[in-house]
Amino acid sequence: NDNSVKAVRGSFFDITRGVDQPEEIEANARLIEDGLLIIRNGCIDWFGQWEEGKERIPAEVRVRDYRGKMIVPGFVDTHIHYPQSEMVGAYGEQLLEWLNRHTFPAERRYNDLEYAREMSTFFIKQLLRNGTTTALVFGTVHPESVDALFEAASRINMRMIAGKVMMDRNAPDYLLDTAESSYVQSKALIERWHGNGRLLYAITPRFAPTSTPEQLTMARRLREEFPTTYLHTHLCENKDEIAWVKSLFPAHKGYLDVYHQHGLTGHNCVFAHCVHLEEQEWDCLKETGSTIAFCPTSNLYLGSGLFKLHKAWGKQVKVGMGTDIGAGTTFNMLQTLNEAYKVMQLQGERLSAYQAFYLATLGGAHSLGLDEKIGSFAVGKEADFVVLDPVATPLQQLRYDNSTTLRDKLFVLLTLGDDRSIYRTYVDGQLVHERG
Ligand code: GUN
Ligand code: ZN
Repeated sequence: NDNSVKAVRGSFFDITRGVDQPEEIEANARLIEDGLLIIRNGCIDWFGQWEEGKERIPAEVRVRDYRGKMIVPGFVDTHIHYPQSEMVGAYGEQLLEWLNRHTFPAERRYNDLEYAREMSTFFIKQLLRNGTTTALVFGTVHPESVDALFEAASRINMRMIAGKVMMDRNAPDYLLDTAESSYVQSKALIERWHGNGRLLYAITPRFAPTSTPEQLTMARRLREEFPTTYLHTHLCENKDEIAWVKSLFPAHKGYLDVYHQHGLTGHNCVFAHCVHLEEQEWDCLKETGSTIAFCPTSNLYLGSGLFKLHKAWGKQVKVGMGTDIGAGTTFNMLQTLNEAYKVMQLQGERLSAYQAFYLATLGGAHSLGLDEKIGSFAVGKEADFVVLDPVATPLQQLRYDNSTTLRDKLFVLLTLGDDRSIYRTYVDGQLVHERG
């Protein structure tokens, strides 16, 4: 059916292969200055040089011409809370006070399906206008919140992973479930949504302090019954939080051990933050094949600390980038990478432009076990991509004109870039955002 065929022309940039070492990323970077992407049924049918591919374009297909722009794979956000969009930038506290004062009251409203639907639509628009085409998302404790989000994502066939929060203690009554109800509700959501189109489910205990051991046992049971689901939670974000976990779970070796002993580590288990890991926790993440979501704007905003990305690389622990809205302060991946660079600077380390783009695209996909499906322009992958405008402001134009190498141009784009840099966003081969 040629009605579903699209042809896109422009400069394309991607990282072609997953790598273990950050030094290998640059060798796998690919720029096609005048390239062509042919899409069929939402997947990449052909990709390469315009001159080599132009004869393949069916006669009736109009070519979308983005010459002068830079087309990259859609960004992957490995940690974000959709029910915190309305409280981004709340003033004043670190994690535990911030949760009590700002977060829990905001999440309360999601027991209302209509409200959750409105906010889901808003949230997905925010992702798209920032070039993010896949996200691993926290809902609230209310199953309605997840129904609303998945309904909205399924309307554009977006690849989205989400789950209902499991939380049966140490939060206001209005946000608590029970071990049993969290199991029953999560299971119903998994059966409804996991593998439905491009949607995937994440079992989502909020963090160790808000779950009883009984609830963590139920989370394990869900994961055993549905082994292709994700596990999504928080780990070692803040020093007071870690001390609290140790007092709540004195029999465990440390914070991660609480999850590990409950069978909640492994492939597609994603732990947000990991700012203050002990050596044995790094080793456990590595040995179990677990993933870290690095959330620089959040870690700086809440004063949590500096994530050791260089250490994760050294230990070969999988890492993706997370915006962590609403402790994070932007939906925008370019700004998130910009802050990641500064987090490295503060530790006497570096983050190159190639490394940064890898983390936001193929590396993020790899960290979520999705690198066979998204993250680069390989033929057969799903056609999720962003058309970036590298000269969206006068300052960017000036700086771009003064850049000679691709490395420099990319680096300036992620340092000065923001939502104005997102010219077009495509999901499943369809145009879903145009800059106003
Ligand atoms: N730890 C437990 N819940 C949260 C949350 O909502 N945001 C952040 N940043 N950390 C958490
Ligand atoms: Zn979070």
